[in-house]
Amino acid sequence: MSRPTPQVEVHPDKQTLSAASGARLLRGLVDAQERRDGPVHLVLTGGSMGSAILSSMGALPDSGSIQWDRIHLWWGDERYLPAGDPDRNQTQNGAALLDSVPVPGANVHAVAGPDTSTSAEESAAAYAREVEEQAGAGFDIVLLGVGPDGHVASLFPHHPAQRTEGTDAVAVHDSPKPPPDRVSLTFECLDRTREVWFLVSGADKAKAVAEALAPGADRWDVPASGPTGEDVTLWLLDADAAGQVGDGGRY
Ligand code: 6PG
Repeated sequence: MSRPTPQVEVHPDKQTLSAASGARLLRGLVDAQERRDGPVHLVLTGGSMGSAILSSMGALPDSGSIQWDRIHLWWGDERYLPAGDPDRNQTQNGAALLDSVPVPGANVHAVAGPDTSTSAEESAAAYAREVEEQAGAGFDIVLLGVGPDGHVASLFPHHPAQRTEGTDAVAVHDSPKPPPDRVSLTFECLDRTREVWFLVSGADKAKAVAEALAPGADRWDVPASGPTGEDVTLWLLDADAAGQVGDGGRY
């Protein structure tokens, strides 16, 4: 089934982008809460923007309207490191907001690290089962940062893990960006969502953003061109990250 054309929203700088994205996320979660009863599934991302959107949202006066007992938190990828390691996305997102909100522990779907699993493969298999059991119908919102090489989650250009099919999560070894061992959701899992939001700041991402939005982009070369939402695919950029997007982009 065809999916809507990506939308692009450009903000003057990183601070404005973070504030606007935080406000948008609050609205998105409250809308999802109102749309139906039951859990709301949000997939989080690492990187500075992944934490900036959470802190901005938490600072809003009406952030109390989030029903945290209904919000389920997932990670698009995680570095295969022990719980509490400062380089884990979960730890960074925790410091940004999650440690200070009343989200029940059972709603926090952390990727197992080497302290609670024997290998990244075992961790990925367990995560895939958890996604299937609790979010099998799909996510509400998937947040994705983009690396300067065009990677999203831990799906890197020309890395074989990118081509994994038939499961929702995959172990990634030899990641070109440290640490080398990671666990990532697969493209087919990331695509099972109502909305995909890319959060991108900085001139070092400008080429990757332009390539991802160019007509005919191939996710093998530019993984960020891969994931799309059923209802919405949204690129939230600052002016530096949008600097090379041409008139021929897909939006
Ligand atoms: C990782 C990072 C990475 C990050 C992007 C964007 O894989 O190690 O988490 O995927 O999300 O590089 O980072 P910024 O938001 O800081 O630009």
